[in-house]
Order: sequence, then C-alpha cells, then structure tokens
Amino acid sequence: MEVGKELQVRIERFTNEGYGVALYDGLVIFVPDALVGEEVRIKITELKKNYAVASLLEIIKISNDRTIPICPFYDKCGGCDIMHMSKDLQLNFKKVKIHDVFKKVCNLDVDVNDVCSFNSSNYRNKVVFRVEGNRIGFYEPKSNTIIDVRECMICDDLINETLFKIRDFINYYTSHGIEEVMIRVAREEVMVYLSSLNKRWYPYFIKRLNNVASIYVRDELIYGVDSINQKINDLVFDISPKSFFQINPKTAEKMFEYALKNIEDQNVCADLYSGTGTIALSLAKKSRRVIAIESNESAVEDAKENMVLNGLDNIEFKLGRVEDLIDELIELNIDTLVLDPPRTGSDKRSLRALLKIKPKNIIYISCNPVTLARDYNVIRNLYDIKDIQPFDMFPNTHHVETVMVLERR
Ligand SMILES: C[S@@+](CC[C@H](N)C(=O)[O-])C[C@H]1O[C@@H](n2cnc3c(N)ncnc32)[C@H](O)[C@@H]1O
Repeated sequence: MEVGKELQVRIERFTNEGYGVALYDGLVIFVPDALVGEEVRIKITELKKNYAVASLLEIIKISNDRTIPICPFYDKCGGCDIMHMSKDLQLNFKKVKIHDVFKKVCNLDVDVNDVCSFNSSNYRNKVVFRVEGNRIGFYEPKSNTIIDVRECMICDDLINETLFKIRDFINYYTSHGIEEVMIRVAREEVMVYLSSLNKRWYPYFIKRLNNVASIYVRDELIYGVDSINQKINDLVFDISPKSFFQINPKTAEKMFEYALKNIEDQNVCADLYSGTGTIALSLAKKSRRVIAIESNESAVEDAKENMVLNGLDNIEFKLGRVEDLIDELIELNIDTLVLDPPRTGSDKRSLRALLKIKPKNIIYISCNPVTLARDYNVIRNLYDIKDIQPFDMFPNTHHVETVMVLERR
C-alpha cells in the first residue's frame, strides 16, 4: 500500500466523527464523506502503521441515505461535517455511536432512546468568524485559509444579517484591524464582540451595525447594553459575552424539561459546571437549597444576577473549579446532583468525591459520549443507568448531547 494508490472498497461502519470505515487487506481505511453500504473508489492520502486515510473519488453504489447538502460551502468549510447524511441517518448515527462507545469503554450494552430533534437549520445562537483583509468566515479544515461564507445555514437569521453588515464594513474600511468576530443572539437581540478594531472606525462600525443591542471591542463596551437576555422555559437569563450559554436554545429547553422531569421535589440539590445558572435556577424551583459550582467568573456573576432576575434566593453560587470545591458537598445530604462538564468530561478526583457525596440521583449532561462513558466507569459500582436520552443539539455536525439519568443502588 502507498499514498496515492486508488482502490475500490465497501464502507462497513462509521467512526465517532462520521467518517466511513473500509477494510482492505486487513488495513483500516477512514474515508470522510462516505456512507455505510456505499461502494466507493478512493485514493489513499495518508498511510500510518495501523490505518490509512483516503479521499473519495467516485461513488459506485450510492446509499439511499445520502442527501444533497443545503449549504454551498459545505465541502470547503470546517463547520458542519455530516450534512451529506439524511436527517434519519444523522439521528441513527448519533444513537448508535452512544451505544457503541458504552460497549467499547464500559463493556455494557446500554439501551439508548431515540435522539430527540427539534430543528436542523438556523439553530445556532452564537458563532465566531475569523477575519483577514476583506474575508470573513471559517477556517478550511486543517488550514489557516478563511472560507468567505456569505451565510451560515445553521446560524440564526439575525447572525447572518449581522455578518452581511460586517462584510460590507470590512470591504469599505480596509484598515479595520478586525481579526475575530463573535456574534451572539438572544431572542431578537444581537451582541457583537470584536477581538480588535481600529479605534478610528468605532463610530462607523456602530453606525453600520445600526440595530444591534451591544458591541464590545475586547472588554470595552463601545455601544449599547452589557448583556443580552434569553428565555428558557419560564426562566430569563442575562448573558454577557464571556459566559457559556447553550447554543441551540430550542433544543436546550426540551433537554432541561426532560432533565427536570426526572427530578422529584428535593431538599438539597447540586449543579456542577453551572455556567450562567440555567440548570441551578430550574432546580431551585423544585428544591429548598441548591449549591452550584462554576469556574468562570463572568458566568458566576451572570448566574447570581439571573437568580435575582427570576425572583429566587435559594442558590449558593460558588466560584472555583469543581475538583477544588466538591468536597464541601460531602456533608450536605445532596438528593440530586446534576453535572454538565465541558467536552473533556469531569475528572477522577471529582468523580471519586461523588462516591462519598452519594446523591440518590445523578443527572449527567454531556456533549461527548466518550468522556461520559469513561466517567461512568468510575462511579458504576454505586450507580445504575436508569435512562439515556440523546438530544440533537448540533444538527449537521457529528456532535450529540446526551442526558444520562443514574440511580444509586
Ligand atoms: C457545558 S458548560 C455547562 C454550563 C451550564 N450547565 C449550562 O447549561 O449553561 C460547562 C461549564 O463548565 C465550566 N467549567 C469548565 N471547567 C470547569 C471546572 N474545572 N470547574 C468548574 N467549572 C468548569 C465552563 O466555564 C462552562 O460554563
């Protein structure tokens, strides 16, 4: 086998990233963009000791689940990666992936519910665009070349409207100095956060963007309000630029509804990795006392304001890393504990502390099935899986959000 060799293969399965996998003379070959069941002609582009990567040259037998991507930038832009799969295949791929990850990591055949899905396009409420000269868009995969996107099909319409105005601005004021633009939308309000902008052009930028709610250049608020406002179910959240907030609010609403359905009225609850307090506030309505831990200072500030904004007073927000503060929960008789860590998952120290806290129920919300299964392994001797419910929080990408409900044995 050598780089450049052309072969005809059948795609047998998917990787966690949604690449097709073929076997040829015992060699595992990853083929991005190929679907299970397809007969394809490929060209080897990378050869390693245990595997190869190939590009797709021709589809000889096409899968019924292949669909034409709705985005004209799909094959160049590094954002979406499974838009060539039909909606049904996308959902099934995510469900099977969670099952297979638990099989591989925990040697368990878990039942995974069908993936709940509520939208496919225009769902993202936040995005970061790169800027170079008069180009604005996303990096090509594995490169520093910016793909100039006119609009992004998975972003909220208001993001695309704002992108249009910013493109117009950078084309006209070529000495703008902008390198990165974050656009965030909450309800009908738009926040723009620039990594830099030539001071001389501040008034022109503000004028061109006319009806946005808030413009920051780094930490300087140059126009409008310092935070924007999102409603999730019956709660309202103020969000400042540096705080994490769920990027698909419609699906997040359904996910929180599901998580809460699994929690009876409780005495004491905990919310680890609490962000701007979305879960803690929901728990506060069902409990006497809630303890929330979060390491991002601006998110904790937002969360405290959100508690007041929603007329609640029974949450203690602790600023710090979960691994440093979790031992404080051991003596508190926590009934239900929710954790929603970043993609890297939780850490051994925190998970071992969970075994001492021993809440009756644990609800683990995760955007990475691999770390979810890895973390479950640490606590599986004390906790049974009651339910695994995936949510299609990031349609058209290989990512999936999973809520796992655990019960103490
Ligand atoms: C996936 S978000 C969840 C936020 C929140 N639950 C929500 O729904 O909006 C993960 C959060 O964990 C925080 N975080 C990351 N590492 C942490 C750590 N070691 N200790 C505490 N918080 C952490 C991040 O700042 C982020 O707000």
